[in-house]
Amino acid sequence: MSKPRVGVLVSGRGSNLQALIDAAADPAYPAELALVISNVPGVFALERAEKAGIPTRTIPHKNFLSREAFDQTLDAELRAVEVDIICLAGFMRLLSAPFSTAWHGRMLNVHPALLPSFKGLNTHQRAIDAGVKLHGCTVHLVTPDLDDGPIVAQAAVPVLADDTAETLAARVLVQEHRIYPLALKLLAEGRVRVDGNRAIIDGMGDAEAALVNPAG
Ligand code: GRF
Repeated sequence: MSKPRVGVLVSGRGSNLQALIDAAADPAYPAELALVISNVPGVFALERAEKAGIPTRTIPHKNFLSREAFDQTLDAELRAVEVDIICLAGFMRLLSAPFSTAWHGRMLNVHPALLPSFKGLNTHQRAIDAGVKLHGCTVHLVTPDLDDGPIVAQAAVPVLADDTAETLAARVLVQEHRIYPLALKLLAEGRVRVDGNRAIIDGMGDAEAALVNPAG
């Protein structure tokens, strides 16, 4: 049976893309990276994809008159290569409601905070300023609302007394690279069931849950 085909949308350095590339290099991994699209020309993520032999496209959003027109082109490019699942990996564009709805249940995002806390930008500084003791990252299914949607995987890290936004970001990023390939694997295996706001993972025992849930 052929594996689900994944399109990855990026805007920058692409370290999460690299984590997916590395995971998918294992023949046992249940998904295949079919296309990488950047809305920003010349970013390092594109180099990573090319090095891994994955086709790339650059679609500058600035060339479009509206968000909807940009999203329609994205959609057409993804469908042209028969993408089944989309992964947003540091993709810094809001997607229109029609696009999110069309890919509902088949689009993942990684967010550098324990949602629903700290949606949006500057999550690490906001976590420090709020004085939380645990921070982390979330992979969730995308809905039309920003950084919302059923949570597939989360990982927590401690916030240390002398942390800066940079040191905290680095600690969180290690966990992003761990849970994003895990969440994509679960979705690709058809083990993610959506029940209202919840994503329920088939075959994942609650006893495995500790600081990383689901444990991978
Ligand atoms: C990550 O922290 C991701 O959670 C956020 O943007 C950053 C992208 O990093 N959405 P990279 O491009 O994957 O290295």
